[in-house]
Amino acid sequence: MLMSFYENNIFPWVLNIADKAFRREREEILGSARGRILEIGIGSGISLPFYSAQVEHIVGIEPSEALLTKAQQAARSAPAIAHKLSLQAGDAQNLQFDDNSFDTVIAFLVFCTIPDPDKAAEEVFRVLKPGGSLIFFEHVKAPSDSLARWQNRLNPVWNKVGCGCNLNRTTQTVFERQGFRFESIDAFYHPKIIRLVSPVIKGVAKKG
Ligand SMILES: C[S@@+](CC[C@H](N)C(=O)[O-])C[C@H]1O[C@@H](n2cnc3c(N)ncnc32)[C@H](O)[C@@H]1O
Repeated sequence: MLMSFYENNIFPWVLNIADKAFRREREEILGSARGRILEIGIGSGISLPFYSAQVEHIVGIEPSEALLTKAQQAARSAPAIAHKLSLQAGDAQNLQFDDNSFDTVIAFLVFCTIPDPDKAAEEVFRVLKPGGSLIFFEHVKAPSDSLARWQNRLNPVWNKVGCGCNLNRTTQTVFERQGFRFESIDAFYHPKIIRLVSPVIKGVAKKG
């Protein structure tokens, strides 16, 4: 009861505050998405105003009912794309879409939270068209041993406070295991967020 109050009311607010740090990445990543787009774990819809009016269609999926409702409200402040947008309940581990049906998949701070990231990556690979792009921005396990040790130690608590988020995912290797080819990948410590979540990867992974 207390946890669901937290998830429905406090957590979306926490996400909005944390998001200010990532504004530049959001502009870059979402502004570059083209064609038929799937955004997995669209959350409260913070991404919506950043999409270009030139996109063909955007499908946003989200498993949390509370966040999906917020995304539907956020769609009203993105008139340039509202008529090309479909927001639906969904799970990235079991996508309800045909093989080879999207030009672009967006994963923005979502592989940290999906319970089975390998299954989700497999599904993303399946629904992308040959030559399609997974455009990602994810916080990950630190390359430095000392910070990685702290991430491991604090992960059980972080996971509760962050509604399933993990500090220590090795998301690059998850993508590699599915056969994605990196067109670009940039791994760095984000300067605007607390040290524990500052190791991030940003890039484009291609199917084929
Ligand atoms: C840190 S939030 C980021 C939300 C959003 N991408 C953003 O940038 O604001 C993580 C998101 O992953 C979603 N999520 C968790 N499990 C998921 C799953 N199995 N499939 C799709 N999304 C999932 C959560 O509900 C939440 O919206």
